[in-house]
Amino acid sequence: MKKIEAVIQPHKLEDVKQALKAIGIDGMTVTEVRGHGRQKGHKEVYRGQEYEVDLLPKVKLEMVVPTERSEEVIKTLVASARTGKIGDGKVFVFDVLDVIRIRNDDRGDSAL
Ligand SMILES: Nc1ncnc2c1ncn2[C@@H]1O[C@H](COP(=O)(O)OP(=O)(O)OP(=O)(O)O)[C@@H](O)[C@H]1O
Ligand SMILES: [Mg+2]
Repeated sequence: MKKIEAVIQPHKLEDVKQALKAIGIDGMTVTEVRGHGRQKGHKEVYRGQEYEVDLLPKVKLEMVVPTERSEEVIKTLVASARTGKIGDGKVFVFDVLDVIRIRNDDRGDSAL
């Protein structure tokens, strides 16, 4: 299994959620975060306004998916989150050792 963690533009969250739902990805965690990439200290546009602050509002998505679906999920996520402008975000991919569904002790892929 892989954990796919993506930091995206907040206004892209609905598009990304819909695109992932369309390919049958159900479980996810969404957190409002603040961050910066390599333009630290430079101007970035957020909701049509230019900001010079170095921490901008972003949304972090976390999903654990079967390894054989991870490339498809990443492609879908990137395509739906991209505007082509700086600050579009980033995807981090991790190996996952195990998953346990608390309700019934399901383990691994069956727990996703
Ligand atoms: N190396 C990193 N480690 C952790 N979080 C990061 C890293 N790079 C970017 N992020 C997170 O992703 C958000 C968006 O990054 P961003 O898209 O600006 O990356 P970038 O490398 O500057 O690319 P771009 O040139 O397209 O802006 C940041 O605000 C931050 O929350
Ligand atoms: Mg950037």
